[in-house]
Order: sequence, then structure tokens, then C-alpha cells
Amino acid sequence: MPTTLITNISSLVTNDPSQGDGSPLGLLTDAAVVLDGEHIAWVGPAATAPAADTTYDAENRSAIPGFVDSHSHLVFAGDRTQEFNARMSGRSYSAGGIRTTVAATRAASDEVLEANVTRYLAEALRQGTTTFETKSGYGLTTHDEARALRIAARHTDEVTYLGAHIVSPDYADDPAAYVALVTGEMLDACAPHARWIDVFCEKGAFDGDQARAILTAGKAKGLHPRIHANQLSYGPGVQLAVELDAASADHCTHLTDADVDALAQGDTVATLLPGAEFSTRAEWPNARRLLDAGATVALSTDCNPGSSFTSSVPFCIALAVRDMGMTPDEALWSATAGGAAALRRDDVGRIAVGARADLALLDAPSHVHLAYRPGVPLVTRVWRRGARVA
Ligand code: NIG
Ligand code: FE
Repeated sequence: MPTTLITNISSLVTNDPSQGDGSPLGLLTDAAVVLDGEHIAWVGPAATAPAADTTYDAENRSAIPGFVDSHSHLVFAGDRTQEFNARMSGRSYSAGGIRTTVAATRAASDEVLEANVTRYLAEALRQGTTTFETKSGYGLTTHDEARALRIAARHTDEVTYLGAHIVSPDYADDPAAYVALVTGEMLDACAPHARWIDVFCEKGAFDGDQARAILTAGKAKGLHPRIHANQLSYGPGVQLAVELDAASADHCTHLTDADVDALAQGDTVATLLPGAEFSTRAEWPNARRLLDAGATVALSTDCNPGSSFTSSVPFCIALAVRDMGMTPDEALWSATAGGAAALRRDDVGRIAVGARADLALLDAPSHVHLAYRPGVPLVTRVWRRGARVA
């Protein structure tokens, strides 16, 4: 395997506390990295870097691990511009809008869905995202959910079955029958294509008992749970996530003290999705409260056509720093190592020997500029699995 030395990195976030000053970011200055095939072979001071087959001069730019976006909904067709416009004129967000995208997605060809996933992933990659999770949830029939997962699985290993996004409009009069479908025939068809099972636990979607039944059925089929929890209102989602050892409770916008304590004590990551609060003009999740309690926090996009139509992790970092009480260091950690924790991965989200060679160069002296210069496209180069992709 040819090796590549990336040198003259002014400031390198490794997320390896054994590096640099021992802070969680493991920050190195005047650093270099050696990539060997798909993995990182060496990290350290540029002055002591070993020779490699090729050298890339970072010209004093900073570098970070590629972002790990642990929550997106990319298999869909159509958009919801009118709904967004109405919201910006004062209408409030409700889960009911999901039905618009379900109709458009069912009507779309495989080619259209595939082209959409490809397009939004390319967008994300240019902005530094090298690992991403994505979900079904806009099909809500056995055929359409399995189709969405097959398409998603062509692009990532982190595929989530979300047949329980809302009760299918076809079952509006009989939600129990829809839960039976999601935990029966639909689960059988979907489980082979997914790693995770998710449920939208919310008023207007699924209650705590339904969510428990769905996630428990998924676990029995070898899928691991994650939950859309406490997004629009207080509710049982977060407690259920911790009880079932879900990898992540996502949104966490409306939390009681008991919810915060449960997240701090359990192994479930709190994944915050500020693009959703931005696009729905809702109250921000309180990252500071979670961090101060000792919870692990991840930061992701929730990219979807309804509540958060952004593929940009840098945008989410800027929001989290400005409005959710995070420091720039915490936000960067949450968007990289935090996302990896939410996917129970230790091979991504950090720059260390043996980890995946996934990193981004910023046209800035440090990662702090991601929040300091919001909206500016600072990601200039991206390597994914050792290959330069942007
Ligand atoms: O994570 N909360 C549920 N699902 C999405 C929104 C989906 C939609 O509005 O289309 C979310 O915000
Ligand atoms: Fe979501």
C-alpha cells in the first residue's frame, strides 16, 4: 500500500487525549499524519515525521477528524419548501408533514432515490463528513422501507430501519395493526439490510409502549436501538433509550432532570440536532446542562426535507456554540468522536494509529474558526479511507 505524509499542519485535532496537552481534543501543533492505505499509520510532530511514498503540504492549515454524522434521513423524494415557508410565516412544525414526503418517496423510482442520496452525500463529503448514518422512514410499506434500506446500504454501513417514523396513513384507523406490521413482516424484510432500529417516540407518532414493543422486536432480530426522543415535547423516549441501552437518544430538546440524570449515568449518547430547531424555530436543546451532568453529547445534522434540510456539520457546530452553550472544542468533539460514540464505533472520529484515514483540512488556523466564521466554506481538502475525495 502506498503511504502519504500530510505535513505542515498548524493545528491538528486528534481526539486522542494521550497526544498534545492531554485535553479531550488531543491538540497537536506543527503536526503531521501518515496514511497507509485506508488507515492512519503515524501521528506526531512534523519535525519527526517518517518519509512516505508521497507528501502533501498542508501549508499551515489546520486538520480535524472527518465528521461523523450519526443522524440523517437521506432516502426521500420531493421537498417541503412550502411547509418551510409557512413555518417562517408563523405556522408550527408537526410530525404530520412527514406524510407529504412519504407520498413523494413512494411515487419515486429507485433511480431518483439513489440520485438524491448520492447528491446529498456528495454535499456532506465536501463539507467534511466522512461517516454517516441514514434511515428509512419515508416508505412505511414493507416494499418501500426495504427498498430505502437497500439503497442506503449501497452508501454506508450505518443503516437504520425507521418503519416506525409515523403510523402509515394506510393504517390511520388502526395504529395497532401498523405496529404489528412494523414488528412483523416489515421487520423481517428490513432487518437484513440494517444495523439499527429507530422509532419516533412522540405525540402524533408512537407512544412509549409502542416504542418499547418496536425496539424490543428489532433487538430480537439483531438490530440495535436508537430513538428519536423528546424532540417536540417531554415524554418517555429518553428513559426508554437508556432502559434498552440504545446507542443514542436523538434530539433531547425537552428533558426533565431525571432524563438528564439517566443519560449521564447510562451508556446512551445524547445526540443533539440543532438544524431541526433552526428550521422549525423551536427552543434549542441545552447542551451545557447535559455536558455539566456528565452525559456524552453528539452533534449531527438530521438532514431531511422537513425539519432540517442541511447536510452541513460546520453549520450545526456554529449553532451549537452560539445557542446551545457548547465551547468550540466541545462542539468539534461532539461532531467527530461524539458521533462515533453514538454509532458505537472507535475506528472513526479520531486521528490515531490504526484508525480510519478520514480527515479534513480547514482553510483556517484552527478548528475554532468553524464557529467563529459561520457559513464560510472552510473545509478545503477531505480524505476518506485514505483517498482524497475533495
Ligand atoms: O428527525 N422527528 C422525526 N423525524 C424527522 C423529521 C422528518 C420530517 O419532518 O420529514 C426529524 O426531525
Ligand atoms: Fe431525525
